[in-house]
Formats: sequence, structure tokens, C-alpha cells
Amino acid sequence: MEQKNNKTITTSAPGKLLLLGDHAVVYGFPCLVTAVNYRVFVEVSTSDKDEFLFPEGNNNHFVQAVLELFRKTYNVHQHVRVQTRTGQKESYGLGSSSAVTVALAKALSGLFFLDLSKKELFDLCYQVVLNVQGVGSGFDIAAAIWGGTLYFVTGGKEIEPLQVETLPLIVAYSGSKGNTATLVKGVGALYKEKPEKVGQLFFQSKELVEKGKQFLVAQNFAEFGKLMSHNHTLLQQLGVSTPKLDEMATAAVHAGAYGAKLSGAGGGDCMIALAPEEKRISVEKALKDVGGTILSVKTDEEGVRIKHE
Ligand code: PMV
Repeated sequence: MEQKNNKTITTSAPGKLLLLGDHAVVYGFPCLVTAVNYRVFVEVSTSDKDEFLFPEGNNNHFVQAVLELFRKTYNVHQHVRVQTRTGQKESYGLGSSSAVTVALAKALSGLFFLDLSKKELFDLCYQVVLNVQGVGSGFDIAAAIWGGTLYFVTGGKEIEPLQVETLPLIVAYSGSKGNTATLVKGVGALYKEKPEKVGQLFFQSKELVEKGKQFLVAQNFAEFGKLMSHNHTLLQQLGVSTPKLDEMATAAVHAGAYGAKLSGAGGGDCMIALAPEEKRISVEKALKDVGGTILSVKTDEEGVRIKHE
């Protein structure tokens, strides 16, 4: 299909944080994920040659892969100009690559007059993640598309939006980056080596997610926090935590948080804590004292959207 047009389409998609179920979600188990206000903006228009402008971030693999798969799937051959903007100089592991993937696919569908359903957009973008990274559950793609807080099962087998208010979450960056693909492959190797032990950990993770879903919907943050701390111990046993993440999670709980855990693949990136509002200042101070950088994160953010001029 080849329709010439002079439109410019601007979209944005949110980042994400994994609340419960990290790693197990790669193996057919569920997780709970919330979309966050670290949005990525994408602007596309048709052009005489392909042009890419990435002032910040390093998501060009994903941009190229979206374009390639989109062209192949929808038989589009026109050149495009793509500009991305994240609003941050640093990447904190809050899902800028999934957000850019979703925002660009949505923008291209608008530019070439395709009315894709959320599930069609998910399938396209999840395939992009697999093409670039080789591994992944797709939870971050779902968060970028649906927004809000989701109960999600591997590959989008179940995607259930939950009625949850903004969570009293405190997010601290550990100061180093984790490599998702390497960490996921590491857990895969451990699963092969010790199938019973790792299978047990995944099963416990599933139980935490199922209970956590009920507590979240009931706004029972005190109980949900305990599940987060329990989930952190499972992730420690999978070997994906770091001394810094452990130190931050312990400091947060000592300062009055309901619970705390690493979020995502581990090996660095962010720690998240759930705390009563009156403890926020002391928890943030405790996290800074052990070297964490507090990020101002709002949860339950809206999913991908097209900006209407
Ligand atoms: O490292 P992140 O924030 O992209 O999170 C990865 C989460 C995993 O469960 C380890 C992998 C996945 O794709 O679900």
C-alpha cells in the first residue's frame, strides 16, 4: 500500500516498572506491571530518504527494527523521517526502548492510515523485541500500549487492566545499568542446571502475583509491600540482585517502607519501595544515604497516544 501524504504524526508512550513477577514472567508465569510517567515522544513524516534524529537515548536498534518489520508486514516502501525525544539524558531502566518501539509503531500506523487494534500493535511490537533482544516476555510493550496497571502473562496470553489508583511508590536508581538480555539468559542457564529449584522459585513468584493482584485492587498497600520484599528474596536466589540493590531495599524497609524490591531484570537499574505517605521523606533520605538517586515517578500513566494538533 502506498499513499502519499504530507502529514506529521506525533505520539508518546509511557515507561514501566515491574511490581511483581520479574523473570518468572519469561517462562509462562504472570506479573504485575504499571506504566510510569517517563514518556518517550516520537514524530514521523514521509521524506525523500530515511532520516533518524535521536537527540538523547540509544534506542536506534529498536527504531530500525520497528521500521523494518512494519514495512514488511504492511507492504509500505516510502521513506520516513523519525525523531525521538525522551526528556531525560540518562536511561534508568524505566522502559525507554519499549516506549519508543510502541510510540513509533503507533505513529507509523497513523501515517499510513492503518487502524491497528491494541492486540495487533502488541503482536507487532513484541516481535520487534524478540528480533532485537532474542528474549523477553513483552510486559513492557503491554504497559506502553495499555497504560495503567496490568496483570500480564508471557507473550500477552493474558492482559488484564486493573482498577488501581496511583501507587505510593518510591523509586531509586542504583547508579549502574543492568543488561536485560544477559540477565535473562543467565536465569535461563540456571533453570537448565537446577530445574527443580528454579521451577519452585517461579511457582512462588506466581503465588505472590496472584495474591498481590487482590491486594492492589483492594488498595491494601501494607500487604502488597510485604509481597514485594518476599519477591526480592526470590530474585536474590535467582542471582540477579546486587549488593547495592539489596542495601537500598533493606534501608527502605528500615526507614518505614511497607516493602521493597529490585524492579526488572536486576544487575542494577532501579529499586522500588511502597511506603505510607508519612514515611516518604524518611525512606527517601535513607535511600539517598546509601547512594540511591530518587526519581520522581508517577504510576498508572496513560498508554500510547497520538497527539492531536
Ligand atoms: O530489565 P527490564 O526492566 O527490561 O525488565 C526485564 C524483566 C524480565 O522479566 C527479567 C524480562 C521480561 O522480558 O519479562
